[in-house]
Amino acid sequence: MLLLLLLFLLSGPPLTVSLNQEGLYLQSLKNSLEDPDSALSAWNERDGAPCNWPGVTCDPISHSVHSLDLSNTNLAGPFPSLLCRLPNLAFISFSNNSINSTLPPDVSTCRSLQHLDLSQNLLTGELPHTLADLPSLRYLDLTGNNFSGDIPDTFGRFQELEVLSLVYNLLDGTIPAFLGNISTLKMLNLSYNPFVPGGIPPELGNLTNLEVMWLTDCNLVGEIPDSMGRLKKLTDLDLALNALHGPIPRSLTELSSVVQIELYNNSFSGGFPPGMSNLTALRLLDVSMNELTGTIPDELCRLPLKSLNLYENRLEGSLPESIANSTGLYELRLFRNGLTGELPKNLGRNSPLKWLDISSNQFSGELPAALCQKGALEELLMIYNQLSGPIPASLGECQSLTRVRLGFNRFSGEVPAGFWGLPRVSLLELVGNSFSGQIAKTIVGAANLSSLLLSTNKFSGPIPDEIGWLGNLVEFSGYNNSFSGSLPGSIVNLEQLGILDLHNNELSGELPSGVKSWKKLNELNLANNKFTGKIPEEIGRLSVLNYLDLSRNQFSGKIPLGLQNLKLNQLNLSYNRLSGELPPLFSKETYMNSFVGNPGLCGDLEGLCNGKEEAKSNGYVWLLRTIFVVAGLVFVVGVVWFYLKYRNFKMAKREIDKSKWTLMSFHKLGFSEYEILDCLDEDSVIGSGSSGKVYKVVLSSGEVVAVKKLWVGLRKECESVDVEKGHVRDNVFDAEVETLGKIRHKNIVKLWCCCTTRDCKLLVYEYMPNGSLGDLLHSSKGGLLDWPTRYRIALDAAEGLSYLHHDCVPPIVHRDVKSNNILLDGDFGARVADFGVAKVVDSAGKGPKSMSVIAGSCGYIAPEYAYTLRVNEKSDIYSFGVVVLELVTGKLPVDPEFGEKDLVKWVCTTLDQKGVDHVLDPKVDSCYKVDMCKVLNIGLLCTSPLPINRPSMRRVVKMLQEVCPENQSKMPKKDGKLSPYYYEDTSDHGSVA
Ligand SMILES: *[C@@H]1O[C@H](CO)[C@@H](O)[C@H](O)[C@H]1NC(C)=O
Ligand SMILES: *[C@@H]1O[C@H](CO)[C@@H](O)[C@H](O)[C@H]1NC(C)=O
Repeated sequence: MLLLLLLFLLSGPPLTVSLNQEGLYLQSLKNSLEDPDSALSAWNERDGAPCNWPGVTCDPISHSVHSLDLSNTNLAGPFPSLLCRLPNLAFISFSNNSINSTLPPDVSTCRSLQHLDLSQNLLTGELPHTLADLPSLRYLDLTGNNFSGDIPDTFGRFQELEVLSLVYNLLDGTIPAFLGNISTLKMLNLSYNPFVPGGIPPELGNLTNLEVMWLTDCNLVGEIPDSMGRLKKLTDLDLALNALHGPIPRSLTELSSVVQIELYNNSFSGGFPPGMSNLTALRLLDVSMNELTGTIPDELCRLPLKSLNLYENRLEGSLPESIANSTGLYELRLFRNGLTGELPKNLGRNSPLKWLDISSNQFSGELPAALCQKGALEELLMIYNQLSGPIPASLGECQSLTRVRLGFNRFSGEVPAGFWGLPRVSLLELVGNSFSGQIAKTIVGAANLSSLLLSTNKFSGPIPDEIGWLGNLVEFSGYNNSFSGSLPGSIVNLEQLGILDLHNNELSGELPSGVKSWKKLNELNLANNKFTGKIPEEIGRLSVLNYLDLSRNQFSGKIPLGLQNLKLNQLNLSYNRLSGELPPLFSKETYMNSFVGNPGLCGDLEGLCNGKEEAKSNGYVWLLRTIFVVAGLVFVVGVVWFYLKYRNFKMAKREIDKSKWTLMSFHKLGFSEYEILDCLDEDSVIGSGSSGKVYKVVLSSGEVVAVKKLWVGLRKECESVDVEKGHVRDNVFDAEVETLGKIRHKNIVKLWCCCTTRDCKLLVYEYMPNGSLGDLLHSSKGGLLDWPTRYRIALDAAEGLSYLHHDCVPPIVHRDVKSNNILLDGDFGARVADFGVAKVVDSAGKGPKSMSVIAGSCGYIAPEYAYTLRVNEKSDIYSFGVVVLELVTGKLPVDPEFGEKDLVKWVCTTLDQKGVDHVLDPKVDSCYKVDMCKVLNIGLLCTSPLPINRPSMRRVVKMLQEVCPENQSKMPKKDGKLSPYYYEDTSDHGSVA
């Protein structure tokens, strides 16, 4: 009886529904993966298990698991080969998870598998050669992983494969010919892999079932093989971003099914092959960025194309009128060619034209009136042509327009009223034409307008009050016109305004009140107008104002004191009627040109004030000055006398040539300048830069120092900016060097001393055994720098710069931050070198606040420098950002590989077009990817085009520390002091013997 009861209990409800074997396998799968989002939490339910579990599908009859779709579930861990024990599993998708480690060879035990999608995961290692053993595999997608090495030979043996997609991996062999054996293949997608340079195997022409061939950015070289013409089912052919050359082969005109051909960014040359009219299915053709010559064939333009991109070639002749018959054409980009003649009269009449870019050609004649007939036109880009006549009235009704660039043509006449007020236009550029008339009040309708560029035309009349309603306006430039009247009061409502440039007009009246609401104003240029009244005190509150030019007006009254608070790169108030005392900060030689031509203005600057006022009020000033002058003379005579005495004394002691040297030292020295002089021979040169040669000197004490010999009257390396010769001004140089010599910071190279003669200067630094970051990173030894080292270098350099910017009084702007100026000590600790000195040497008589000579090196120069030619802390931060990008990408700041771009632009476009994996340095272990991405972001912030958006160096240090908090604690302790630097007591300085 008891036994029966026990049996009854044991067989109770909890045990009635037990998991079948497949359910148990799936549960162990669940246990083998990390599941941070609990995507598999329902995989416990016993009812109907496992066929009703999320992601699981069973065969309706046998109830055996048939498909497993766990895409986008954030699962992490290695590929669970255990799955292959499910005998009928035909479909697996783990797309977009974090499946890591290598793909195990026993994946081939999934005998029923037809569809395997492991795209967008973290798989590494080689592709398993066993994949081809899966007898029924039709679909294989391994896109977006880190597979490396060759495509295995066995891949030629797939029996049923229709789709092979290996995009965005690190495959670095060649594209093998045996892929031509997979006769069932419909889609071959190998784009964006770093294959070694190789040709398109002619065998691929055997893939007669192929519909899609995507071989973008695969390092393809050579010509397109004629066998491609055999791909009669091909609809998409994409060979863009390779180095293919030769003509576009005639065989391509045999691709009777092809809808889309992308050959952009190769080196194809010659004209279009005859027979383009055979491509009756073609809708999209992109052959941009090649070297094509000849004309655009009429037979091509007769095809019912939707998109035609032929920009950046060398095409000539006119655009066939037949293009206007294509009823589907929505995109036509022909910019940067040598095209001539008039635009087809009916362009836009038959098709919903959306994007038209014919910039930088030699098109002439008038704008076709029908361009926007279908109401779809968004971008009308035609700068740099010879187009003439007025803007057709019909375009004034083109509500779809967003970007209009008609600059640098010969357009004339009045702009249609409706055109001013198009509601979606964000860029309206009419620069460099002969447009006349006024800005119509209808502009109030242009609610989306952010750039209004009207300069160098014949516009006249007042600037309408309605302009103040354009709340999104960021740039309004209308210089070189004949605008008159006063600025409308409403203009102060433009809170987004960054640039207001109306110089060379006939504007008059006072500046409106309330300009303090221009919180984002960066540049204000109202030069050469007829403005009167006071310069509003509020201007001193525009905290991001960087460029202020109010010269050649009739402003009167005092200079607002608040201007001293601004970080101005350009300040020009010359030729006005300003009066009163100059604010103290501006009483410097440097600012001379900013204030000339204001007869009433008084200050210590020569040539400013006629002195009348001063003499009247302060009679005794004259007396004081005389006393000072006399005292000064006595002092100078004394010094000269002392110097002569001293020289005689020295001459007696030393040989004549050496006595010309003077030494300034900042530390107790264990050596003399003569010892150094004796060691400067060409054998000991370790580097040579724009400012001089660097020698390594081993002293008798065994100590090693680096000696930099500056040469005088130097030129800078970068040709893109004007070159102005500097000359050494000894006293400024010495003062500056003294400041630098006092700096003590663990991340700044120590300057031991400085020796000077009339035509040569020696700077003696501590020696840094590992040389410069630039040399190391960009040499074959770049692989030595692993990520933790690179990260520490970035942080060290940031701390050094932060010290210069924030802790030095006055702040020091480095002006030439670059990887070659970041030196590495024996432990790869980084120190900033070479700051300030170049500045002093180059400054050509200008004070430190406004250096108008070239600063910086190619690839590191902040973009605003092009128009301001001035540098401040923000330009250092930009350059530092470039160094960070070098560390993350391992690439040079400028490299022929980038074409016209520099590293910053290359990183931005590559990120956009190909993703982050193509940006990160492949020499760095991919396990650091997350940290690298964080540091990359900091580099991008520092290189923001707008200086305001760049974080301060102090903030940069903080952000870098946050990237990797655990690394920080591993860093050397800062010898018990609160701050990592200290000033050495001046009495410690060594003295000249
Ligand atoms: C794979 O991911 C798991 C789970 O996140 C992790 O524990 C493991 O360390 C990773 N393995 C590798 C080789 O990255
Ligand atoms: C494949 O193409 C190559 C070259 O185009 C040719 O020599 C070869 O015979 C072809 N093989 C098959 C099986 O058709």
